[in-house]
Amino acid sequence: VSVPILNASGCLDALTAPEVAQALDAFVTKTITPEPREGNHPVRIAETDHGMLNSIGLQGPGIDAFLTTVLPTLRTLDVPLWVSVGGFAASDYASICARLDSENDIEAVELNLSCPNVEEAPETGAEIVAAARAATSRPLYAKLSPATWDIAATARAVVAAGADGLSLVNTIRACAGAVDVPIVAMGGVSEGRHALDLVAAGASAVALGTVLFSDPSAPGRVRAELQHASSARGFDNPLHVRGIALSS
Ligand SMILES: Cc1cc2nc3c(=O)[nH]c(=O)nc-3n(C[C@H](O)[C@H](O)[C@H](O)COP(=O)(O)O)c2cc1C
Repeated sequence: VSVPILNASGCLDALTAPEVAQALDAFVTKTITPEPREGNHPVRIAETDHGMLNSIGLQGPGIDAFLTTVLPTLRTLDVPLWVSVGGFAASDYASICARLDSENDIEAVELNLSCPNVEEAPETGAEIVAAARAATSRPLYAKLSPATWDIAATARAVVAAGADGLSLVNTIRACAGAVDVPIVAMGGVSEGRHALDLVAAGASAVALGTVLFSDPSAPGRVRAELQHASSARGFDNPLHVRGIALSS
């Protein structure tokens, strides 16, 4: 077992690019909301010299259409599925988790507690995790926003509330020292060296986001580069690099 490579939620449409999804260790859906949503008005994506800005605003079919039309097709891809769940109150997250609980082959649920482009739920992340925890027995990953005063305190609170893992953008070090759960790290990964840095900072899995828009071969390429970068530093398995930057 090496470091799993996932996509970042919203950055890959597995139905239009099934072979890219199949190159991943798990496919993460775009965030699913209770009702269908058109998302924000255009312009919603802008390319810059240094990457991409986006403000999609959680566009999606809603949980009903997801379960009846999207999920059955995703299943045929034969890749482990993570479902990203969003909402505007803790009860939204809980009700979607409860609906997903009766579906068989969902490997994990990622709670999107981090969307900067829509109104936030009034509850804290820990309250949302607690509500979701009560509604599902599936592994729950809390995706946290770096835009908070004390990310390590948030990490501790959501883990205490029942999260089994964290998905993090750019905030790996503070959280890896604060909690002892798996961490999916993302944010700006376009080559194996970036993934290795995140693993050294405490990540147990790495997710690819924007890079998938420009390089559909990124899953296999980053996996191979990660292995190479790791071996070149004397580690047969990149997982053995996990956390080494934390102690130095
Ligand atoms: C077009 C686009 C859509 C996104 N949609 C979602 C989403 O639905 N849910 C979510 O949790 N994150 C969403 N994200 C954020 C990504 O999952 C990821 O956290 C972010 O892009 C950082 O990774 P990157 O630098 O590799 O792109 C989206 C990002 C982009 C660029």
